[in-house]
Order: sequence, then structure tokens, then C-alpha cells
Amino acid sequence: MIELDEVREVGAALERGLSRVVVGYAEAKRMLLVSLLAGGHVLLEGVPGVAKTTLVKALARLLGLTEGVHANVGGVPHRGFARVQFTPDLMPSDILGSLVFNPATRDFEVRFGPVFTYFLLADEVNRAVPRTQSALLEAMQERQVTIGGRTYPLESGSAGKFFFVAATQNPVEQEGTYPLPEAQLDRFLARIVVEYPATIEEERRIYELHMKRLTEPLEDLEKVAEPGWVVLAREAVAAGVEVPEEVVAYAAKLVRATRPPVFPPIAEYFELGASPRAGIALIRAAKAHAALRGSSVVEEVDAKAVLFPVLNHRVVPNLEKVVEEEPSQGRFGARYKVIREGLALAERVASQ
Ligand SMILES: Nc1ncnc2c1ncn2[C@@H]1O[C@H](COP(=O)(O)OP(=O)(O)O)[C@@H](O)[C@H]1O
Ligand SMILES: [Mg+2]
Repeated sequence: MIELDEVREVGAALERGLSRVVVGYAEAKRMLLVSLLAGGHVLLEGVPGVAKTTLVKALARLLGLTEGVHANVGGVPHRGFARVQFTPDLMPSDILGSLVFNPATRDFEVRFGPVFTYFLLADEVNRAVPRTQSALLEAMQERQVTIGGRTYPLESGSAGKFFFVAATQNPVEQEGTYPLPEAQLDRFLARIVVEYPATIEEERRIYELHMKRLTEPLEDLEKVAEPGWVVLAREAVAAGVEVPEEVVAYAAKLVRATRPPVFPPIAEYFELGASPRAGIALIRAAKAHAALRGSSVVEEVDAKAVLFPVLNHRVVPNLEKVVEEEPSQGRFGARYKVIREGLALAERVASQ
């Protein structure tokens, strides 16, 4: 067991490491760590070239995780980091693994897929067919995989082995993409929206990072913690961070205020509100957020800080309102704007 102080210290070192290679995006960096410590998976949404892949790779490197084998769980090798490019012809077995016939032994043996890893980067997850997406989402949810009738765990506390999925997608729905259905989006603890750099200064700092070098800056990152630290930190957060009654009440009020039948004015923004699972996720993420700022007690500020990334993909925005906003906000900007305004209204109701 580790102390919460250590969670804060190492968490801060991880954040500093991310900031050495990625300019800006403070909220995205914080949410990546919150999700990792809360035992959740993340969906990074943004156009190509805004450092989504870089963020995930950098975090893996800071934990010393590479593409080599890093653990053996019940005789099964697990890699440190694996990246799978999702394409329309990707099959479930390309992720999970399959039984293959070995002519030498005249028997079937298991070929373990890339899901047997600590970090799985599922790039452009919306380009694969639904069957393949479901296979990934089921593995994320169950934290185990069945191949040829045998079930293999993806996590093991005693082996210090965790399983973390970071999926990316482009919000601009192109032809030949299969947007994840709401029921599946719910499996991601957070959807982290990665927008263009906020200011011209940030834009210039990004160019300067790259100007004098041929390789990616993240290749210089050194490990700041062992992978097993993540498992201990998760336990410390789960057991050591308290959630006071008033924060539970606040979360419940907030989630309920996203639902049109409960709070009719929200229908202007949302067609469908958030589920109880969303409320559980909100509290879990708020606990990790509290630990990262060095507190063993969750406060309303922690819930507020994780509110948008934890809830934005669990509500269905009112399409009429989205269409109204499109001329000024662009196609996907409009969606985020309506969701942001709706969540802000629900938040005001909850904090009254
Ligand atoms: N905010 C940023 N800070 C540092 N580098 C950035 C930033 N945005 C983009 N880059 C650089 O641009 C390139 C594209 O990044 P990448 O992570 O592959 O983007 P994505 O996965 O979003 O398509 C990389 O070389 C990356 O280092
Ligand atoms: Mg990428």
C-alpha cells in the first residue's frame, strides 16, 4: 500500500513529463492521469495532428512501458505498449487473438493478440466495423478475454499488471466510419476532447519543440515510475479517498438534472440524460482528481473539474439546438457547445 502523498508526488512528476513533450492541454493531461488512477479507459477525440497519440505514448514511456514483453500473467506474456490501427478490415481476432493450428505438434495453440498489454492505443476506433469495436469494448469492460473456450485475465493485482485503453477518434464523421453507439461510449470513463492549440504562443512553442530535431521529443523521456506503481496508486485512491455525503448529493443532483423527464428545462440541450453509471464514474474520477491535488477528501471542485470529460459522451445533445449552432460553431464545434451549455446548466442546478 502506498500513501496518498506519493500518489500526488508521482502524479505531478508524470504531469511534468507530459508537459515536456506536449504543449498546452492541461485538462487533457490531468484527465489522462485521473482515468489511469480511477481504473478507467479513455477516448481521445480530435482532428489528426493535435498530439493525441503523442500524449498516450508519452504516458506509457513515463511508466517505462515499451513494446517488449513486460509481464507474465499466468503464463501469458503481456507487452508494455501496443498500438492497433483500426481499419474496416480489422477482425476481432486481430485484437484479442485466436487459436492457430501448429502442423509440427498437430495441435491448436493460442496466438495472443495485442490486447495482452498494459497500454493499448486503439487508433481511429471509429473506422473498424461494429463487431470489432464490440470485441475491444467487451475486453475493456470485462478486463478478460476468452480464446478457444479459455478465459485469460488482462489485469492482475498480485503481478502489478493493469490494463489501460486509450482509443482515439476523429470527430468529423467521414464516409466509412462507424461512430460508437452511446451504449458503448459509456464504457469509457472519459471522453477527452483535444481541440486545436488555444493560443498563437502555444502554436509557436509546439513548432519550437520540433525545430532543432529530427526525432520525436518523447523519445527522450525517462521513466518516472514503475508500471506496478499504477496498481498500488489505484488501490490507494479507491481505499484512501473519502467521499463526503454532500458530494454524493451534489453528484446525484447534477446527474439527475441532465435528464429531461426529471428537469424539463434541460430538454433544450439534451434529448437523453446521463445514467447512474455516469454518476458512479463521476465520483470515481473525482476521487482520483482529489488524490492528484493531494487531498484525501473529495470536494465539489473535484467533481466540477472532471464533469465535462466524464459526462460529455453520456448525454445525447438536442439535434435541433446543434443544427442552430452549426453556422457559427462548425459541425462538431456545435455538438460540444450544446453539451457544454447543458452540463453547465445542470451544474448550476446541482450547486444551488
Ligand atoms: N500540443 C502539442 N505539443 C507538442 N507537439 C505537438 C502538439 N500538437 C501536435 N504536436 C506534434 O504534431 C505531431 C502529430 O501528433 P500526433 O500525436 O501524431 O497527433 P494525433 O495522434 O492527434 O494525430 C507530432 O509530431 C506531435 O509531437
Ligand atoms: Mg494519432
